[in-house]
Amino acid sequence: MLDPTDRAFIADPYPTLARLREAGPVHHDERLRRYFVTRHADVRSCLRDRRLGRNFRHVGTEEEFNAAPLDPRWQEFWEVERWSLLFIEPPDHTRIRKLVASAFTPRAVEAMREPARQLAHELLDACLERGRFDLLYDFAQPYSITLICRMLGVPTDRHRDLLDWSHRHVKMYEFDTTDEQAESATHAAAEFRDYVRELIADRRRSPCDDMIGALVAARVDGDDLSDDEIVSTVVVLLNAGHEATVNTLGNGVRALLGHPDEWRRLVDGEVAPAAAVEELIRFDPPLQLFERWVLEDGVEIAGVAVPRGEVISMLFGSANRDPRVFREPDSLDVGRPNAAEHIGFGGGIHVCIGAPLARIELEASLRALVERAPALELAEEPVRVPAFVIRGFQAVEVEIAPEADTLVSTVTG
Ligand code: HEM
Repeated sequence: MLDPTDRAFIADPYPTLARLREAGPVHHDERLRRYFVTRHADVRSCLRDRRLGRNFRHVGTEEEFNAAPLDPRWQEFWEVERWSLLFIEPPDHTRIRKLVASAFTPRAVEAMREPARQLAHELLDACLERGRFDLLYDFAQPYSITLICRMLGVPTDRHRDLLDWSHRHVKMYEFDTTDEQAESATHAAAEFRDYVRELIADRRRSPCDDMIGALVAARVDGDDLSDDEIVSTVVVLLNAGHEATVNTLGNGVRALLGHPDEWRRLVDGEVAPAAAVEELIRFDPPLQLFERWVLEDGVEIAGVAVPRGEVISMLFGSANRDPRVFREPDSLDVGRPNAAEHIGFGGGIHVCIGAPLARIELEASLRALVERAPALELAEEPVRVPAFVIRGFQAVEVEIAPEADTLVSTVTG
């Protein structure tokens, strides 16, 4: 019933996800060798279940877990992933996450609010001057990468390289990664690693108190973080720090411009951008699926026994449209009272560490768009990236409605 590589499914996965969800909470897919979890309550509890893990290698072998060995051709990629927060489990996860959390304090994140507002306006001004622009390439990408670089202390002069490495890297998380993409991801990971190593060497020569400086100086229980651990941590923060935020804005603005009444509620000030952001993440989340390995015997999900060594795939887009939690879940309602109950940022020990930053960024950019470009419209129908897990568009070409242009020049001129 679910083929994550099918173009028609990728174009609009929600009807299929709804059928799957209403047929049952858990589906064993023999072909894909996994259990899909479809409903909000079950996805939520899986995220918090410590018997499920992002990785199994801390408790068992590849043979025991019936897992294919990591392909040695992509060794450099695996090495960069080795210490990524997303792929480690306690105690390593606890140790590294604690360090990262000490930099992502509420105060440090709150201090990004004004820079985010300013940057959104600066970038948007330049875009609006051009008339037609790609919301992703011209606005969201430079916006998000600049802000995460600023938080980490990474110079922005190579921001296009960072975006390129990241786009190639995350292709490894899809179902149908080709050898060509894997090779490209591996080269990207190696270039990214070399770049971060230079930054580490630089901080060793001249210590400073930005986040990379802090990771270099950090000692946990008397041990330094190794360079490999710092590389993985910086790479995951840089990648996760913009991919999902950019796609949330692209998916969200596409949804809003397709629902002019909802866009109007924002333009008229009836609904605050911060509230709308939650509904946009719920309605068309940028990350659709996360996996866990079953690490122990005796696990049951919604009454279905799932043996040790199996993989479960939590369907976030399905959970976010579960009618058991959200009324009329297929409608976009920017003022939805319980929109923030979405699963978009995950939960449990791997819950998104960047969620407060993402919320600030999305709020500031949506506010700037609504205030500065109330007559925004799609210049053409955007085309989806042909991938299910990381859901986004290739480009979102927008422009100011021609009548609005004339109106503004008549009024001002
Ligand atoms: C709308 C934007 C974002 C969405 C929807 C999102 C979503 C998520 C989700 C669902 C997870 C949990 C993965 C799992 O359970 O396996 C996660 C983890 C993570 N996110 Fe985000 N994220 C966003 C923005 C950001 C930003 C701006 C950062 C930058 C700091 C970030 C950094 C991370 C990191 C480092 C992790 C791994 C945490 C861990 O495993 O302990 N994310 N994110």
